[in-house]
Amino acid sequence: MKDYPKFLRAALGERVTPPPVWIMRQAGRYLPEYRAIKEKYSFWEMCKNPQLAAEVTLQPLRRFPLDAAILFSDIMTPLLDAGVEIQFAPGPTLAAPLRDEDSIRKLTPPPREELAPYVSETIRILRSELDSSALLGFAGSPFTLAAYLVEGKGSKDFRNFRALLYSRPELAKTLLQKLTELTADYLLNQIDAGVDAVQIFDSWAGIASPPVFEEFALPYLQTLLSRLKGAKSHAGRPVPVIYFALNAHHLYPQIASLPAEVIGIDWKITLSEAKEFFPDKTLQGNFDPALLFAPTEVIERELEKILLFSEKNPHIFNLGHGIYPETPVENVAFLVEKIKNYQKK
Ligand code: CP3
Repeated sequence: MKDYPKFLRAALGERVTPPPVWIMRQAGRYLPEYRAIKEKYSFWEMCKNPQLAAEVTLQPLRRFPLDAAILFSDIMTPLLDAGVEIQFAPGPTLAAPLRDEDSIRKLTPPPREELAPYVSETIRILRSELDSSALLGFAGSPFTLAAYLVEGKGSKDFRNFRALLYSRPELAKTLLQKLTELTADYLLNQIDAGVDAVQIFDSWAGIASPPVFEEFALPYLQTLLSRLKGAKSHAGRPVPVIYFALNAHHLYPQIASLPAEVIGIDWKITLSEAKEFFPDKTLQGNFDPALLFAPTEVIERELEKILLFSEKNPHIFNLGHGIYPETPVENVAFLVEKIKNYQKK
């Protein structure tokens, strides 16, 4: 592993001090150079234009010495090629949510070669531009994608989605099965095109009770991960999987059974507490994104706690969830700089 990028070494279980660092939602509205491009193009135009998507992916790396770039896209992107119409307002919105047999039957994932070719092209461009930084691909989990498709938009509790799980479990499973195949194809395309690791976002896992997670999320994640198992990257290296579920501490005992190399942790639990559930895995996280609005002394004090964990455990530094659009850019620079200059205590 010695010649592997720092990010990969940590993801595959090595302790690295200082830890590799990247920031969830690092490309986006907190950067003026992103806003300048966004003024001229819609979000889908940006995602579907490989030159633009690659440019936006690289913007945060030009400012900060990050160890990973994350593909600029959205968790909803592959659904466009399965015939779903999605707008952003500002989160994903469907004029026609999928709640009956007819609409779920109509969801037709294309053959793998025809799925999001513009994303593969973006990755090929990025591959040729990146040197020591890792390139991360990503996808939404089948459960989180289904939550958006059934609810039709983001929601605090996804009542319509949860109601469907209880009232039409077989119909829900038909949908989850299709989304699992689509997501596996999509991530394999990303790996073939050149990503070094992939992150699975399960942003809405937290709405599930443990039995619901057991029945409607876990089996599909297991299938998805088994399809990725053994995949090798462009460099012939293993491709670690990062699984990130938000607000899901009550599901950690179940999540621990997943064969993902890395578990993303939100900011509502300490890394040491989370580690008890995942003794053999690398943890990623979990700096509260709201801390980036605090005075630098506070940022430094809280950072220290995470870096102490990092000295003793395989760890990838990240925020506990996506960076807020209003975040002062100079505080991000301060944070990354402090991490890069950290030395073992
Ligand atoms: O820098 C990166 O992390 C790469 C790009 C990325 C986007 N979305 C771009 C985006 C990634 C990894 C995502 C994942 C995503 N999308 C998730 C999982 C992560 C999470 O936050 O839990 C979710 C739930 C979505 C769905 C989504 N897309 C929402 C809720 C929103 C609106 C609010 C928001 O957070 O921005 C989007 C739109 C979106 N996706 C934007 C960007 C840059 C904003 C578009 C704009 O500029 O108006």
